[in-house]
Amino acid sequence: MASSPEQTLEHWLREASAVLAFCGAGVSAESGVPTFRGAGGLWEGHRVADVATPEAFEQDPRTVWRFYAARQEALQQVEPNPAHAVLAAMEERYPELLLVTQNVDNLHERAGSRKLIKLHGSLMEVLCTRCETITPLREPVSVAGIEAGELPHCECGGLLRPNVVWFGEALNPLHFEQIDRFFRRCPAPLAAARPALLLIIGTSGTVSGGYGITPLARRFGARVVEINPEASAFSASVDLAVREPAGALLGRVWARVHATDTTEQA
Ligand code: OAD
Repeated sequence: MASSPEQTLEHWLREASAVLAFCGAGVSAESGVPTFRGAGGLWEGHRVADVATPEAFEQDPRTVWRFYAARQEALQQVEPNPAHAVLAAMEERYPELLLVTQNVDNLHERAGSRKLIKLHGSLMEVLCTRCETITPLREPVSVAGIEAGELPHCECGGLLRPNVVWFGEALNPLHFEQIDRFFRRCPAPLAAARPALLLIIGTSGTVSGGYGITPLARRFGARVVEINPEASAFSASVDLAVREPAGALLGRVWARVHATDTTEQA
């Protein structure tokens, strides 16, 4: 009998020698964090040019800060979902595991992920526009304060901005070196018997085109799986598409993988 996509994913997760997960806003959707595109998405209510470019911040830091302070406040009201929990738990099973997220929320960290690359920065960090110091925030910046005209400032007196990557800004090249090293470390014979797995979860691929991660993974013999209820820019180049919400799916699949791990150890 033919396997369902979910069963194939389970089988590949059991076989994998290494896993790289490339994540987007869909991973946090089941936590109640809005995605960017599509109905109800963040870019439906806001123009990118008004809130997510360095030029917008230069011209009108108050409008930009109002947008990010509201997202920081909203982040305090949500919790990690099973997708975040499973990705964190994978660090136990796979010695070679890397989580690369485009999300600026802190739900991966709150779920316990440590081997984490935040390609687009972090909502709960600020960057000084003068001395360039990056500081984590304990509390969100107050929307009421911003409305009242109080913009956050660094100890050095410089204006603080959210430590997120805006449109037109460069990503950190060290992150791509880390991704490259991850695939190069997968030993070839082992990779052939137990192929590494690239999981592309909850991202439309609109912005990045995937940053070349899919072709890189293929070059090193990895299997490529997409987890997304809808088709994306990645869909044509994956080995397997599982059209399910990530939290519900990964919660189910990982419970089964974990159950047999436990049985084998007993
Ligand atoms: P998008 O909003 O473009 O795409 C979200 C994807 O998540 C879509 O493909 C949805 O089908 C999928 N999705 C929705 N619910 C899901 C669920 N429960 N499980 C799995 N998938 C689900 O968000 P990103 O691809 O992350 O950049 O966007 C990439 C970047 O563009 C963002 O980091 C942001 C944005 O503009 C900056 O702000 C610089």
